[in-house]
Amino acid sequence: MKWFAGLLWPALATCFSHPGLLVSDSDISRLQGKIAAQLDPWTSCWDSLVRMTTADVPYSPQAVSSVDRDAEGDTAANAYLLWQDTAAAFALALRWKVEGNTTYADAAAEILTAWAGNLTSIGSNDDQYLVAGLQGHELANAAELLRDYEPFQENGLAQFIEMMETVFLAKNIYFLEHLDGSEHNVLHFFANWELSQVASVMAISVLTDNQTTWDFAVDYFKNGTGNGAINNAITNIVEEPGTGNPLGQGQEEGRDQGHSAMDYALLGVIGQQAWNQGEDLFAYNDSRILLGAEYFARYNLGYDVPFEPYTNGIVSYTNISSASRGNVRWAWEVLYNHYVMIKGQEAPWTTEYLNATYETFGGFEPGSGSYGDPWDSGYYDTLGWGTILYHLNASDVAALQNQSVSSSVYASASASVASASASVASATSTSAFVSSASSSATLAVGNYAAHGHHHTHHPIVTALPETDDSWDDCGDEDW
Ligand SMILES: *[C@@H]1O[C@H](CO)[C@@H](O)[C@H](O)[C@H]1NC(C)=O
Ligand SMILES: *[C@@H]1O[C@H](CO)[C@@H](O)[C@H](O)[C@H]1NC(C)=O
Ligand SMILES: *[C@@H]1O[C@H](CO)[C@@H](O)[C@H](O)[C@H]1NC(C)=O
Ligand SMILES: *[C@@H]1O[C@H](CO)[C@@H](O)[C@H](O)[C@H]1NC(C)=O
Ligand SMILES: *[C@@H]1O[C@H](CO)[C@@H](O)[C@H](O)[C@H]1NC(C)=O
Ligand SMILES: *[C@@H]1O[C@H](CO)[C@@H](O)[C@H](O)[C@H]1NC(C)=O
Ligand SMILES: *[C@@H]1O[C@H](CO)[C@@H](O)[C@H](O)[C@H]1NC(C)=O
Ligand SMILES: *[C@@H]1O[C@H](CO)[C@@H](O)[C@H](O)[C@H]1NC(C)=O
Ligand SMILES: *[C@@H]1O[C@H](CO)[C@@H](O)[C@H](O)[C@H]1NC(C)=O
Repeated sequence: MKWFAGLLWPALATCFSHPGLLVSDSDISRLQGKIAAQLDPWTSCWDSLVRMTTADVPYSPQAVSSVDRDAEGDTAANAYLLWQDTAAAFALALRWKVEGNTTYADAAAEILTAWAGNLTSIGSNDDQYLVAGLQGHELANAAELLRDYEPFQENGLAQFIEMMETVFLAKNIYFLEHLDGSEHNVLHFFANWELSQVASVMAISVLTDNQTTWDFAVDYFKNGTGNGAINNAITNIVEEPGTGNPLGQGQEEGRDQGHSAMDYALLGVIGQQAWNQGEDLFAYNDSRILLGAEYFARYNLGYDVPFEPYTNGIVSYTNISSASRGNVRWAWEVLYNHYVMIKGQEAPWTTEYLNATYETFGGFEPGSGSYGDPWDSGYYDTLGWGTILYHLNASDVAALQNQSVSSSVYASASASVASASASVASATSTSAFVSSASSSATLAVGNYAAHGHHHTHHPIVTALPETDDSWDDCGDEDW
């Protein structure tokens, strides 16, 4: 019945857009123009991607049957094999999209196909969920870029999807349904753990055209019970000293700034993936993501913020934590360009944090595989490359709004081009903290668990609402 879809439902607006996760076709064509004209900051950022040996051929996949973030028994921690390959697959797939050379698509497809043919286990203690969420959303993003590459579509995609559903998605959902026995209560795991699952469920849903799981992730973000729900990830709305403007206190602000930074990297991923499907989570609940980003950026630029006492019944904080203050992750391009450039909203601290990002990394926001220790998970938690994917000038904003004048997402954006003329360069750098940011730019890594102890996991069972099979008809046209 699949081939009836177009005839019976000509208005396929409810179907998923492809590529429609962290990268859209308009992002690719905009980038092609920037590179052709050798414009910065895009070209410098692109050059740093192309310079990576892991974005070049030949690339030998490192696929194995089992990865683990931790040493267990007599096996060493080896999840770096997966995060390195995932970063490489995404970069190679992006090179193919931008440069049009199928050599890179073949190399990316070989990586994804090798993992699909090998991987059956991602560990047994709690850290398995970090692999499930972090590498889950990244892998799905790499495959989403390649899904219209025929050799991959015909030979690899189906097996890859099966791996994503059985090894990753099942764990993402199990965790978000609070079925893991190691949880003391639904707020046990810090926000980054759950946000990564939400990002992964969304990404795998788009890759597989699964409306049921997509709705599950979006509903969880809006109204879940754990810390991956936005109103729990950003616990309190407080007033900015001096202005009285609302700021959002993050769930991990009493813990440390490195993990809080990770939350904003993941919230940008979630927001952008949804935006590319016409769902504006960036705007949800008075732009709560932005309120949180502004709080984080203000504090991490060296200014004070109010702090409301926090407890989840396991940990309690009465003060903000200055641990890893000034931490810079690749997180800010998407937030700045979305809120300030596209929507024309005020985001002074976010704007200045993008400036700090540029200062830290040398003029642009880089991505996974190009920076930092390849064995250090912290450099691979999200894909990054925000400058090439999201940086906009005023003409780009006008073109986007023009092109999407009938689309719900842009129509709801109240931006005017004039108000979007704020630029990174116009942000004033106000403290020495900014210029010293690079020395404190080490990414938080290691054990993200709420407690040092680990538990073995339980069998995966998912109890999703019954699938609406009509969604099977959606998207097959594209494959
Ligand atoms: C495609 O990339 C490969 C590897 O860099 C290179 O050898 C080949 O010449 C490129 N093909 C074209 C048509 O540019
Ligand atoms: C397993 O991965 C290796 C690379 O690590 C690859 O050569 C091999 O083809 C893969 N096996 C299957 C069955 O895909
Ligand atoms: C969506 O994903 C869920 C969980 O993996 C699965 O049970 C369901 O069959 C999927 N639906 C479709 C239409 O693929
Ligand atoms: C949130 O979830 C509760 C049940 O957990 C439900 O009663 C309520 O309607 C939901 N609200 C929204 C806005 O989805
Ligand atoms: C928005 O956040 C407030 C608390 O700051 C909360 O009371 C309200 O339920 C939230 N609304 C939605 C739609 O999530
Ligand atoms: C925690 O904050 C309170 C005020 O909110 C302050 O009096 C106290 O000194 C702070 N404690 C630490 C350890 O910074
Ligand atoms: C924006 O970049 C485009 C190239 O992508 C260029 O043609 C245009 O002149 C630039 N506009 C502004 C306002 O800088
Ligand atoms: C907007 O679209 C119209 C009609 O397609 C086109 O003529 C015009 O150049 C576009 N403007 C911009 C800023 O892209
Ligand atoms: C950051 O802000 C300072 C002060 O306004 C400015 O001099 C610098 O050029 C900015 N850096 C970047 C990379 O935009």
